[in-house]
This record gives sequence, C-alpha cells and structure tokens, in this order.
Amino acid sequence: MKDEGSAATVRYLGTKKKLLDSIEAAARRVGFHGGTMCDLFAGTAVVGRHFRALGSRVAAMDLMACSFVFQKVFLEIERLPEFRGLGDLAAAGIAAPEERIAALGEAGTRRLPGDPLPLLRVLYHLETRLEPCDGILTRQYSPAGCAGRKFLRPERARRLDAILLEIRDWRERARIDDVEEILLLAATIDAADRIANISGTYGAFHKEWQVNTAYEADLRIPALVAGPRGSAAQGDSLAWIPEVEADLLYIDPPYNTRQYPNNYHLLELIARIPRTLDLAALEASIAGKTGLVPWSEQASKLCVGRGTTCRDAFQSILARTRIPRVVISYNEEGIITRAEFMEMLAEYAGVARAKLRGALEEISYRRFRSDRDGRLARTGAGRRYRVVPGRARDEVREWLFAVAKRKERRPRARVAQLQ
Ligand SMILES: C[S@@+](CC[C@H](N)C(=O)[O-])C[C@H]1O[C@@H](n2cnc3c(N)ncnc32)[C@H](O)[C@@H]1O
Repeated sequence: MKDEGSAATVRYLGTKKKLLDSIEAAARRVGFHGGTMCDLFAGTAVVGRHFRALGSRVAAMDLMACSFVFQKVFLEIERLPEFRGLGDLAAAGIAAPEERIAALGEAGTRRLPGDPLPLLRVLYHLETRLEPCDGILTRQYSPAGCAGRKFLRPERARRLDAILLEIRDWRERARIDDVEEILLLAATIDAADRIANISGTYGAFHKEWQVNTAYEADLRIPALVAGPRGSAAQGDSLAWIPEVEADLLYIDPPYNTRQYPNNYHLLELIARIPRTLDLAALEASIAGKTGLVPWSEQASKLCVGRGTTCRDAFQSILARTRIPRVVISYNEEGIITRAEFMEMLAEYAGVARAKLRGALEEISYRRFRSDRDGRLARTGAGRRYRVVPGRARDEVREWLFAVAKRKERRPRARVAQLQ
C-alpha cells in the first residue's frame, strides 16, 4: 500500500481535472451559488466531486460502469465504513497507521466523518496477504494468456485478479456492504490504471513495457470529499434529462468519434467483475486484438461524426431540459461547431444570438501526445494536427459556454381590478 497520498483519478479522455476552477467560475457567472448541480456526462466524477466539496448536491449519470463506481464513491459516501463483516481482518494491525492516515492529506478522507483505519487495514490485506492467481485479467489482458495482449504484466495481473476475486467472494457472502464494496473497487480500478501499459486510452497497448507497468499494484484510498449526499446513476443521459430537477446543468459530452466503452473496456470489465453472475460467459465474450467486451448498448450518439446525429442529440438535451442554467465544456476540434452551439444556446436561453456575447470563454492548453506520438512528431512522422494561424504548435482550446434561460416575465398585477 502506498504510504503517501490518496488515489487520484484514472487517466480519462476529456477529464476536466485541470479546469475545475474555470467551471466553477462559469457556474457563478450564470448565477449558480449553491443548490443542486446535474453532471450529465460524469466520467471520472471529478467535476461533481468539486461541486460537492463546495456544498452542492450533485446528481450524476454516465453510460459507463466504471464511471458509476467513481460517482458512487465521490458523490454518495457520507461516512467511512467500518468493515464490521470482516471482523478480525479489519481490526488487524498494520505498520505505522498514523503515518498513512497523515499522508492522506487535506483533500483526503480526513474531511469525511469516520475512522480511516478499517479501510486502510482492508486495503493492506488485499495488497499483501492474498495468493496471486490466474483470472480474467491474467488470461485476457496479459501475455500469459493465449491472445498475448500486453496491457498488464502477468505478475501484476495475477495480483489484481486475486484482489477482485476476494472482493467478489466477500460480496457474495455478504461480508461487505455496498459502500465497502464500491470503495474497494474504486481503489482497484485506480491501481490497475496506474500500471497499465497504455498511454491515455485502452484502444491500444504498447509493444514494449512502459516504466509504470513495473510499479506495485498499490491500493490507495480514493480522494473522498464531504458534502451533501448526491446521486449516482449508470444510463443514457439523453433519456434521463427531461426528468432532472436541478439549479445548474453541467454538460461535458464526448467531442469526437472515440466511443468510451471501447477505449476503457479494461476498467469497465474490472467494474463489472464482482457483480457479474456468469463470469465464464463474460470472459467468453471478450474478443479482438485489444480484448473488447461487446459494447453496442453503450454506444453514444454524441460520438457519431457523420451527418447531424451528434448535433441533434445535443440539441435534444437543451430542448428538453427544465434546468435554468447551463455550463458546457467542449473542445474546439470537436464534431459540433461554435456556430451550432451559439444557435442552440440562443434557443435554449430564449434570446437573440447577439445577446450571447460573453457566453463563451476559451481556455488554451497543450495538446496531449503520447510518448511515441511526441517522438514521431519531432521527426515529422507522428500524427499530424492542423496548426491554427497565430497559435503555438499543439495549442488547442477548450470552450466553456455558460448561459442562463431568460426569466419568464411575470404578468403585471392588474392593479385597477384589485382595487
Ligand atoms: C468528456 S467525458 C466526461 C469527462 C468528465 N467530465 C470528467 O471530468 O471526467 C464524456 C463522458 O460522456 C459519457 N457519455 C457519452 N454519451 C453518453 C450518454 N448518452 N449518456 C450518458 N453518458 C454518456 C462517456 O461515457 C464519458 O464518460
């Protein structure tokens, strides 16, 4: 178990970890100063976690099972669990517990009521006292399996398999409750992601082992925050939106054609292992070079590049929501254009497009390139991106739209009649 720090969040395409302050400022600009916030495309749930820490209730949703795990952990947990069902195990001593607790830091669990020791002890048990074993991860995502996929080193995969089977067994025998299970699962997903042989997504693995793959699969306590209890959900936000009541709608949709379930299938699979009844059937469904799990039910219309499917899907959100304020994150290289956004937002707000001046903030950042991509780019052979005139190479902009609906005019009181 790592002595310093609590678990960060996984590497995730489009995560807004670095834009939290800008998103908060945008929400304030449109008059959100607390209340309920809806995180419609939650991903790692870091945005919702930020708003919860500020005192808002957050209602979140995403298509992904791994996102559901993060949402539960960051938005719903109110107290550190005691792991009573594990009896002696959670009470067993571990080395230097005070140091480990102190190392969790200000952003860690210390702000949440309850004692972190039982959780630390259980993580320690999972990390150090289990016999490594061959399971789905070893057979399907390490070179020890016949498909030879190189996402995890075999010895690391065996450890993770042992951890997942233990969590599954505890759950089946009702030795842990839902909160305890979800915390352990979040720590396992985080550990797997830190040692995976990828750069950014699971759409491909490296041919050579990267340095991080040799790290221990250490389990860290997720960076929990205290705040009002929110709600987590896995499902299609397009179907959910008409019924959501909130004061602020935050929309961070995918911006290109990369579908999340086939770029994060390994994390998705880990999230499903403890609760899948027929693990053999799940394993039998794994196929292809990267070991995809069937994902068509999780395909998103917002990742469709051709025609108007993506724009229409987005428009249907704004057209059907009753939430009076919206903040939208999008990348300038995305499928929907700036002009399309302005048109949709003018309609949502009930004002002319000209009145939306000031609704868009542009935030510059350096494009992420994987190590290999970066090396090849220097020799001119890497992936080519258009350089916008007047910009630095690799400079891209994130758009942040913030708009409030025009207030309905109240009918004037008929003074004469009342007198
Ligand atoms: C850009 S990411 C969100 C990142 C997140 N804000 C963060 O900071 O981690 C987009 C997310 O939208 C989800 N998604 C795409 N289409 C969806 C839909 N129709 N309903 C729910 N979630 C969807 C994807 O699974 C993905 O997690």
